[in-house]
Amino acid sequence: MTKADAVPPTAQNQHQAAPPVTPAASVRNKLSDEPTYREAQPLLVLGFESSCDETGVALVELQGQAVPRLLAHALFSQVEMHQAFGGVVPELASRDHIRRVLPLTTEVMTSARRSLKEVDVVAYTRGPGLAGALLVGAGLACALAAALDKPVLGVHHLEGHLLSPFLSADPPQFPFVALLVSGGHTQLMRVDGVGRYDMLGETIDDAAGEAFDKSAKLMGLGYPGGPALAALAAQGDPKAYALPRPLLHSGDLDFSFAGLKTAVLVQSQKMVAAHGAPIAPSEYTLASGATPGFGALPVQAQADLAASTQAAIADVLVKKSMTALKTTGLQRLVVAGGVGANRCLREQLNAQCAARGVRVHYPELHLCTDNGAMIALAAAMRLQSGMQEAKRDYGFHVQPRWPLQSLLSA
Ligand code: KG4
Ligand code: ZN
Repeated sequence: MTKADAVPPTAQNQHQAAPPVTPAASVRNKLSDEPTYREAQPLLVLGFESSCDETGVALVELQGQAVPRLLAHALFSQVEMHQAFGGVVPELASRDHIRRVLPLTTEVMTSARRSLKEVDVVAYTRGPGLAGALLVGAGLACALAAALDKPVLGVHHLEGHLLSPFLSADPPQFPFVALLVSGGHTQLMRVDGVGRYDMLGETIDDAAGEAFDKSAKLMGLGYPGGPALAALAAQGDPKAYALPRPLLHSGDLDFSFAGLKTAVLVQSQKMVAAHGAPIAPSEYTLASGATPGFGALPVQAQADLAASTQAAIADVLVKKSMTALKTTGLQRLVVAGGVGANRCLREQLNAQCAARGVRVHYPELHLCTDNGAMIALAAAMRLQSGMQEAKRDYGFHVQPRWPLQSLLSA
């Protein structure tokens, strides 16, 4: 299941659009009659994330050209609810976002000791993601902003991931090479500033996150597979099985992980056959997608396959990242997205970057996967850079499919 398999719905609201709000100096001059922005005063941005199976709300403070400061954030993960189905059920996800978003908003405002009236800009994830899930965040954000008479701003989910390391204790500086490894995307970019992204390479089929998730499913590890596979891999031998490193020597910066999943399937079937233990008939009809008999293998054998799979994915990501640094001549690497939480990947990147004198930056571990903080941050940084304005235009429009490159023309 992908996050982007529905047609983008739109909703229109006829509320009269007032002048936009932005702290970027160039645009600020144009809007000197805008009553809600004062240059010396901090700007509070409230952000909502609801693109998939996590409801996130956060409040950041933006002042001048300083890196925006996270005041509070709250998150509810639906993982438990979807686990029974082996993946995200879009309709259940939307309904749960509706249930969670207001209590989380109250939690954030309470923990930041601010009131909604103090919020200057409301931001939300406009895409990519599940259409129904996105609509919950967009609808709530626009309704809230209209009620508060504050401007709104729709944010690209991947830009949120990409900029999330700016909330870490060791924020990067532009320019840098970005390795964006989320559930549905694997991309290498040259990043020269907010909204200034050059695609260097991307996956031609499965993303690294999908490779983790699909391999984990074959091993009966359920959903979400990445963290479970990583945990099992911790006890395994990464050299136990020689799995393919797709496109490792292709000479370009593209990725392909679909073949790896097939190799894991074939290897797991071989292991089951070699083990020789009878397979219960029920295992052939399991909806889980696990290789029948895999669960009966010795735990060490399972861990070895998990470790070998993880090593194959990490090797490709690390090698291509080093090539991207060499090609661009940049000395800074930023890793973002859920797979960026992987310890094996971090260790290898740290070692390779240290050997080349390259600085490497990650989001805080709890901000690697989806969250509201990265959405509020991306909105704040877009305002700060003058790339985008927040407007009192409450006709919202979600974009389940939305290439990051198109942000350049936003
Ligand atoms: O960025 P993200 O939260 O969602 C998208 O925007 O897609 O990424 C989710 C992906 C999933 O594929 C999940 O299995 C993977 O990140 N992931 C991990 C780890 N934590 C999350 N993969 C490997 N190791 C981890 N520790
Ligand atoms: Zn994400």
